[in-house]
Amino acid sequence: MNIILLGPPGAGKGTQAKLLVDERGMTQLSTGDMLREAKSSGTEMGHRVAEVMNRGELVTDEIVIGLIEEKLDAPHGNGFIFDGFPRTLAQADALGALLARHGQHLDAVIEMQVDDAALVERVTGRYTCANCGAVYHDRIKPAATAGVCDACGATQMVRRADDTEDALKQRLMEYYKKTSPLIGYYYAKGALYSVDGLAEIGIVSAAIRKVLDKT
Ligand code: AP5
Repeated sequence: MNIILLGPPGAGKGTQAKLLVDERGMTQLSTGDMLREAKSSGTEMGHRVAEVMNRGELVTDEIVIGLIEEKLDAPHGNGFIFDGFPRTLAQADALGALLARHGQHLDAVIEMQVDDAALVERVTGRYTCANCGAVYHDRIKPAATAGVCDACGATQMVRRADDTEDALKQRLMEYYKKTSPLIGYYYAKGALYSVDGLAEIGIVSAAIRKVLDKT
């Protein structure tokens, strides 16, 4: 089964993707994580990507489609969870073509609906484990022992350079201009399902499970 988690920055895509990986043995493909890896590589491309991401703008279609294309060849267990990809109509078309070339198709696109005010709180309070990527929040989901990852025990937590209110405004602008048209695109293809992303993490996860079980 291949699915897309679609939603604005801070909607909970990464949080839900990690739960699905654990529950269903699916493979998470987060273009944000791949780009952050490129950013920390110290290469010329990494520097260019860092500037764009820190401003809250989208990286070029060519770069992200190339990243996804490389991953589709790798073994993928029980299917892919596309997290943060596609983000433009060109990326959506490219994903359809790439999956078809691999003899695969998309089973569901899950739109996570969250209002903008909640996104500001979620994004500015987020921190992640530098070792395993587990996602936390200062107020909503703090680590059980401050500074220690519940999942792997590592003691280095990091905050993203683009998790500021200013960068978030730009990220939201990009979302509404370039990514939200995908809601209509996938609705027209009969693949769209919407869940209330404002609910508690466990409730969102149950709603997603319900969609996947009937797909
Ligand atoms: P990316 O890393 O994809 O960021 P994003 O889409 O902005 O999404 P986030 O990772 O911020 O949020 P999320 O929805 O995963 O939420 P999370 O689960 O962490 O992209 C970053 C940048 O890379 C882009 O701006 C762009 O520059 C570039 N990029 C990436 N992909 C690209 C592409 N395809 N094309 C071009 N450029 C691309 O949750 C957030 C917080 O809320 C956490 O603290 C969490 O604990 C909490 N939380 C989660 N769920 C809930 C809940 N139900 N209730 C309360 N709190 C919750």
